[in-house]
Amino acid sequence: GRQLVVAVDGPSGSGKSTISRRVAQALNARYLDTGAMYRAVTYAVLRDNVDLRDADKIAAVAEDVQLSIGTDPTSPHISVDGIGVDREIRGPEVTQAVSAVSAVPAVRALLVARQREIIAESGRIVVEGRDIGTVVAPGADLKVYLTADAAERARRRSSENATNQAATAADLARRDRLDSTRAADPLRQAEDAVVLDTTELGIGEVVERLQRMLDKVT
Ligand code: C5P
Repeated sequence: GRQLVVAVDGPSGSGKSTISRRVAQALNARYLDTGAMYRAVTYAVLRDNVDLRDADKIAAVAEDVQLSIGTDPTSPHISVDGIGVDREIRGPEVTQAVSAVSAVPAVRALLVARQREIIAESGRIVVEGRDIGTVVAPGADLKVYLTADAAERARRRSSENATNQAATAADLARRDRLDSTRAADPLRQAEDAVVLDTTELGIGEVVERLQRMLDKVT
């Protein structure tokens, strides 16, 4: 059939991953977690003890690293140089460093090119990130921008990670600020994105709304 691309952007804790995976399953589509790709490069940067202020060295790691990215919405696995890193990329070290790595323009250029290849190879795909509707797939069939109150996002993240809510809130605020103020492809709402606030809406309700919107575009 025809290609179908759904772009899902928004800050951390907005429900992006859960919602994107559910929509991909409902559509029988592939799923691409672009945040996992930035996290995987960050894992390699930390593994190689690269200084986070050294953009050239960070870019060199991104260039050399072999990423393998699964696109199954029920179990998306990622590996770095042949080693599975699904758990490692969610840890505090990577989470702390990922905004610095993802701000390096050469890293973005490499990963955006790879993301576009994966999208082109997949007939139907739901892609989640920060710059999907604006940069990676500006021609997407549906663009969704998910938001939620900062306190609710921190509550969701700390229950996922069993960490303290105040520390999580501070980390989210720091990452939101870095991700939305960086020069290269900052987190931004596409003009033609549908904005959904998930603070009060349940996950199931958001998924249903998106499915109704998709019925119209397919
Ligand atoms: O979505 P997730 O929270 O896993 O993303 C981790 C980080 O990767 C973000 O904080 C951001 O710095 C970066 N990112 C990005 N562009 C994307 C997806 C993620 O810069 N498309």
